Amino acid sequence: MTQRLRTAVFISGRGSNMQSLILAARAPDFPAEIALVLSNRPDAAGLRFAADHGIATAAVDHKIYAGREAFEASVQALLDVHRIELICLAGFMRLLTAGFVARWQNRMINIHPALLPAYRGLHTHERALQDGVKIHGCTVHFVVPAMDEGPIIAQAAVPVLDEDTPDSLGKRVLEQEHKIYPLALQLVAQGRLTIDGNRVKSGSGASVAPLIVS
Ligand code: GAR
Repeated sequence: MTQRLRTAVFISGRGSNMQSLILAARAPDFPAEIALVLSNRPDAAGLRFAADHGIATAAVDHKIYAGREAFEASVQALLDVHRIELICLAGFMRLLTAGFVARWQNRMINIHPALLPAYRGLHTHERALQDGVKIHGCTVHFVVPAMDEGPIIAQAAVPVLDEDTPDSLGKRVLEQEHKIYPLALQLVAQGRLTIDGNRVKSGSGASVAPLIVS
């Protein structure tokens, strides 16, 4: 097959979304290759999984840098060394500067545990329960300088149940995250998406997002 898109996954911890990307990318016809997993936390559990799967890993500890620009310069150097073409943020809990985001415009995607534009930021499941919404979910989007904004590639919805706690709801959402992130990466890596303002179009006329509501 043609060259696969060289992709880096940025994590800060557990890395379950990273795992779903690595496993999906093992399929021979998957259009992206996970070429690097990078964490800003040296103790991130996900680094071990990536290394065990033969993927290059790097820890760039943000705490030892004087500021965000210096941290990002080290990150960029690693991206250059590994000839990275696309970045997937997967539970990466560091804000990136506008300069870094601009450099990776339309080449960096993120997963967020809510149906954006609702519930940007943290504690999305607690806030959804407090508001009494009946449908919650997750979103994969292109990264822009404003946090948790940017053109939406895929979303999945889940029902909110009477007995839900933030944990049980978060677990149901996470199962969907593990489905839509590989799907979104595949769509981006196939190179057939167009970005029209805030709208991402697949060109096929088909919805790029599974709607999973029961
Ligand atoms: C995921 O739920 C992801 O959507 C969320 O952090 C979790 C990381 O889990 N990301 C954010 O909240 C970013 N704003 P993981 O390390 O197991 O993939």
